[in-house]
This record gives sequence, structure tokens and C-alpha cells, in this order.
Amino acid sequence: MDATREAGLRNVSSVCSIPEMDDFDLTKLLDKPRLTIKRERSFDERSLSEMSISRGLDNLELAYSPGGRSGLDTPGSSTRNSFEPHPMVAEAWEALRRSLVHFRGQPVGTIAAYDHASEEVLNYDQVFVRDFVPSALAFLMNGEPDIVKNFLLKTLQLQGWEKRIDKFRLGEGAMPASFKVLHDPERKTDTIVADFGESAIGRVAPVDSGFWWIILLRAYTKSTGDLSLAETPDCQKGMRLILTLCLSEGFDTFPTLLCADGCSMIDRRMGIYGYPIEIQALFFMALRCSLTMLKHDTEGKEFMERIMKRLHALSFHMRSYFWIDFQQLNDIYRYKTEEYSHTAVNKFNVIPDSIPDWVFDFMPTRGGYFIGNVSPARMDFRWFALGNCVAILSSLATPEQASAIMDLFEARWEELVGEMPIKICYPAIESHEWRIVTGCDPKNTRWSYHNGGSWPVLLWLLTAACIKTGRPQIARRAIELAESRLLKDGWPEYYDGKLGRYIGKQARKYQTWSIAGYLVAKMMLEDPSHSGMISLEDDRQLKPIIKRSYSF
Ligand code: GLC
Repeated sequence: MDATREAGLRNVSSVCSIPEMDDFDLTKLLDKPRLTIKRERSFDERSLSEMSISRGLDNLELAYSPGGRSGLDTPGSSTRNSFEPHPMVAEAWEALRRSLVHFRGQPVGTIAAYDHASEEVLNYDQVFVRDFVPSALAFLMNGEPDIVKNFLLKTLQLQGWEKRIDKFRLGEGAMPASFKVLHDPERKTDTIVADFGESAIGRVAPVDSGFWWIILLRAYTKSTGDLSLAETPDCQKGMRLILTLCLSEGFDTFPTLLCADGCSMIDRRMGIYGYPIEIQALFFMALRCSLTMLKHDTEGKEFMERIMKRLHALSFHMRSYFWIDFQQLNDIYRYKTEEYSHTAVNKFNVIPDSIPDWVFDFMPTRGGYFIGNVSPARMDFRWFALGNCVAILSSLATPEQASAIMDLFEARWEELVGEMPIKICYPAIESHEWRIVTGCDPKNTRWSYHNGGSWPVLLWLLTAACIKTGRPQIARRAIELAESRLLKDGWPEYYDGKLGRYIGKQARKYQTWSIAGYLVAKMMLEDPSHSGMISLEDDRQLKPIIKRSYSF
């Protein structure tokens, strides 16, 4: 992590409010010497000093010590501190190591699931970029960064491939959804095949892969203090190619990214096309991570300037139009329609009759969340776990919004957590709507899989969000629930039912990200400083002026 750069950017924030930022010259400010800025300690920092952990963590903006445990087979959480490890932890480490994939003798990732009982392998024997993230964090937290470095370099190489679907060529920056290592025992060779969407069910390119790659590169840099990887010309170019894809200009009237259905963790038709919260939150986070890693050369500075402008517009848009709480819902309920010109209150011409009944009951008096999607005449009021947690981690959510999201978890615990943390989205869609929205997908029936199923992997995101907002007790409760079943049930991919009580209809067992997600959640709770590699401080320069304009 480049502390100087981060601090440099913070200088910008301290002297510049959002309206002024439109015309400021970033390049001048970036070259200014570092100033020490006094700021409020975050929960992470507070909890650290209060927890008296004997590591050199005085300056959290500097790299964390990797713990020097590389090569050891023992889980860090059982050796580093006085916490009594849960018996599941050792089992989880063993299962995680079993899922390792090697290329020419080097570990380069983990397979999605190691489920021998399942007759259908599909692509679960591949290394998925998004699935590898919790594995990578577990290895980083355990002081084993090499596999993460190998993965980052391998996927970067794959990005360089020419990508075609039929006769169409994909953008240069696209990262694969997954890759597979083919071992030829006779010739003793290893080769790689990658899927950029051309083999995926539905033929959708994963928009989230590139963002996760950038976020992981920052996590690696922050965790190891090794700036040299991010600074290589290859990594700089990889980042710029991803950024080129999402910062290009077109016909957009919004700063959000327009996406196809199935382009993220929810990789099948589930009605998330348009501007899904998951992608917008990851986009925001990846932009902020890039700012800390791009070199200050001519190309880098040019990108930084574009990123700043986009962040500014994106945070305003998301915080104003995607945010919903009791008051906002009431305002939308009373909207007039068919307004013309910039004075319109109902900017997207949302017809109040389209607000689903469930949301009126679901909305607590205290609490709020970023809704699933906003586009002309369409607001998808569903709550999505990943997008809301990443919004907290990236500080896309203001501190008030972040607390409100946690309040919602508490107020709607049964709906969002129930008996297994946590729902991928709420609520499920059914009947006619299910037919239309999913195209009659038999896997995504109500309260199953992507349609309101409960995904243990999301536990790590919830835990990180709890730590960031100073509410670790919420994570503790969720982890206890997971501990009562996960190992016994064989680490399922997802659970079904309104309360998440049943092992998912077609869920894989020994799903790697369920295992790694649990480990990451445990390690972060035990040592909250770990969460620094995956969370970004509130940045004053991005602070909203949630002047919900006079019109919204
Ligand atoms: C499913 C999930 C996807 C995941 C993949 C591998 O397709 O929807 O998010 O990456 O399985 O686990």
C-alpha cells in the first residue's frame, strides 16, 4: 500500500468539497508532499488498540505484517492468539488445502467445489475468479501470499488472450470467469483453458471478475506491503485495460455500469440486468482500489483523473437514487408521474403502483439499504447481500447509511439470516413473476439458489461489514449459526427455504468458498486488523453531500 499516495489523496479531500471538485486539477495535488491529517479513528483502529494485539500496527495505512507463517500447515488463528479455535477451523483448513489447483508445480488457485458425490461436475472443477477471493483472503491472513500472487499473475496472463464468442471479439480488458488446468500425465505437461463467458451457462461475460482482480491486488499489496507486484508494467497495464472497459464513454446518462443479466455472482437470468447493485458496488470499490495502486506516470495520472470524476458522480448517484429507507419509500409512494424537465421530482418516472407490497412490510422504521436496480421506470426493490456489504466496505455507503444497513440486519434478522447466514437476496420471486423473470429456471425456484437461497460464503462479507461498522456482535451471532451446521452438512454451496433451513436442492458439497468464507470470517473476528485488506476508509473527498437535490 502506498501510504503517501493515500494520504496525498486525502489532502485533496480535506481542501475540497464536492462541488469544487469538478474543476480541480488532480495532477497538481497528487504531487504535493504528504501532510499528516488528523482524523477520527475508525472502529478497526479503535478495536485494535483496545484488543492489545502485540503486532506492529501503529499505522494501519501501512502494510500489515504477513505473520511470516508461509509454508506452515497450521492455521494462523490457532497459533497466533489466545482465542480457542473452533474444531471446525482445522477441518476447514484441511478442506481448503485439498481444493488447491497447481500449474506446473505451483499453486495457482482453488477449485470451486471438491464434491466427489456429485455426478455432475459441470464447471465446478474450475478455478473461478470470484470464488477464489475468499480463499485468497484466507491465505493472506494466514501469511501465505504466494498462491495469491501466482493467481493474480496467471489470470493477468489469461486477460491477454484473444477472446472470441463465435465471430465476436470481447474487450481486451475482460478477465475470465474461471479457468481450468489440464494435466497430461503422459507428456507431463500442464495447459490452461479459460472461460470468458463463451462456455458459461447463458454465455454471459463476468463483469465482476476484473473488479475482483483489482480488489484482490490491493488486498495482496496491503497485506504483504509488497508494492512491487502492483507496480510491474504488466499489472499496471492489466488495471488500465479493466478500467478502459468500464470508463469508456457511450450513450450513458448515468454514471452506473449497464450490465446483462447473469454477469456477476448471480450468473443466471434473475432479473438483475440493468444497473445491478452488486456490480455498482464492486465498480466503486475497484475504482478506489485502483487509485491507491496506479503509478503517477502520464498514463496513470490520466486514469486517476477519470476515476476521480467517475467516483464523484457514481457516489452521488448511488447514495441518492439507490438508497431507500422509510422516509424515502414514503416519498416514492407519493410520487407524481409524467414530469418533464430537470425540475422533476420523480426523475426516473417510477409509477408508485409498481412498488411491490412486500417492501412496505419489510421496511423498518430504523434502517435502510441500497436497492437492487434503478433505471427508467424501474426500481428493483429487492435487497442484495453482496452489494450492500461491499457498499459498506468500500465506503460507498456513508457512515449513516452503513449503520442503517446494519440496523436492517438486526430488524429483519429472520428474513435475511434466519437459520443460515445469509440470503443472497430478499425476497424470492415466485409464480408468474418467476416464469417471466427467470425464464422458468428450475434451479432458481423460490427460496432456492439465486432466488432467495442462503449462501454461507457471504458470511465473510457480513463479518467484514460488521467490523467496519463496529457491530461485531452481529457477525458473532451469524458465525454461531453457521458453526451449528456447516461442517456437519459438508460445507454446502447454498441452503434453501424461507429460513435457509434445508441444504440446497442442487447445492454442491465441499464448496470451497463456503469453507474459505467461514475461515475468513473467523480470522477477521479474532483479529479485526485483517479486515483492512478488504475495506476502505471513508474518504472525505467522496463524502456525499446528500443533498437529495430539491427534486428527489
Ligand atoms: C455458481 C454461482 C457462481 C459461482 C459458481 C462456482 O454458478 O452462481 O457465482 O462462481 O457457481 O461456484
